[in-house]
Amino acid sequence: MNPFQSIYEAIGEDQIKKLVSYFYEEVAKNQALRKLYPEDLRPAERRLFLFLVQVFGGPQTYFEERGYPRLRMRHLDWMINPSMRDHWLNAMLTSLDKVNLEQNAKELMMDYFIKTANHMINHE
Ligand code: HEM
Repeated sequence: MNPFQSIYEAIGEDQIKKLVSYFYEEVAKNQALRKLYPEDLRPAERRLFLFLVQVFGGPQTYFEERGYPRLRMRHLDWMINPSMRDHWLNAMLTSLDKVNLEQNAKELMMDYFIKTANHMINHE
């Protein structure tokens, strides 16, 4: 088991739901991010929620609905340079601060988001 997969049990699904809800509030407020997303943010919110539940060791509903994540490939439709990465990451880290999490889980999640956001960069 990779360490990220202990997060779901440590923090529970409700906290992941809150995190993702805060994240899309940040997206809605940030013009650079907002314009990349569809008009209705709710389906995107559900996809990110199910994805994180799965990555953090919970049920595999994401896989059942969306198949293999192939996350980097799914992001090739958008030009993600270091600046866009920063917008995304700031929105996520701001949201993470709003959720009440045990320090160890929070640090693991920060590691995960930083590592994965860097991996999504596909443009200078
Ligand atoms: C830790 C880093 C990231 C994670 C875990 C993540 C996760 C996801 C997931 C799970 C989806 C839905 C994929 C699907 O099933 O179709 C998605 C979509 C998307 N992501 Fe990311 N992403 C990350 C970084 C980024 C970055 C840096 C950007 C650039 C600003 C970005 C922009 C988008 C956009 C525009 C969509 C389409 C929204 C939608 O689902 O309709 N993501 N992301």
